[in-house]
Amino acid sequence: MTFTELILQWRTEDDTRQFAVRIAHQLSTLTPEDSLFIELHGDLGAGKTTLVRHLLQTLGVMGRIKSPTYAIVESYDDIKNALYQPLNLWHFDFYRFNDPQEWEEAGFRDIFASKGIKLAEWPENAAAELPIADVAIKIVANMDESRVITVTAQTPVGHQVISKLQSFITPA
Ligand SMILES: Nc1ncnc2c1ncn2[C@@H]1O[C@H](COP(=O)(O)OP(=O)(O)OP(=O)(O)O)[C@@H](O)[C@H]1O
Ligand SMILES: [Mg+2]
Repeated sequence: MTFTELILQWRTEDDTRQFAVRIAHQLSTLTPEDSLFIELHGDLGAGKTTLVRHLLQTLGVMGRIKSPTYAIVESYDDIKNALYQPLNLWHFDFYRFNDPQEWEEAGFRDIFASKGIKLAEWPENAAAELPIADVAIKIVANMDESRVITVTAQTPVGHQVISKLQSFITPA
């Protein structure tokens, strides 16, 4: 298994949005039987939720997209793939997660055992519980709107997603 790593630069938030659109197009090729776990690393304010918001908007989620900072997870069950089949999607933010017992009680184990897309901010805080992510995205903010992004494929499924992304992307 080779690890693929892409290093990119977003100059403005519009570049972030364009990247989110490309990821969303990859996600819309998944079927209801597929699973994909993407973890999002980066400091407070790096742009993790912003990326997820653009991604969910591209996937057709209407209305305000809440950051799951307090609830830890927001679930979306109205997303359709390119063939108009339903896809489950969960957006986690483990910033406030500190009780491994909650993993069972809040049903997170069941979610990670389910088919669908899981996106997670602050995966470091639940590292002992989480499976290996298919794709890890690390965002480093500069003083302005620009960001340096490292996208790493960590599984064969992640590798497929990244190889399809690659053809669209001009590296930093
Ligand atoms: N290129 C960019 N990409 C993403 N966000 C940007 C960019 N430039 C500026 N921003 C701004 O930076 C902020 C990023 O906040 P966001 O909530 O997405 O961060 P976060 O990584 O989710 O932080 P937290 O760890 O607190 O959840 C937003 O206000 C957004 O408008
Ligand atoms: Mg966030």
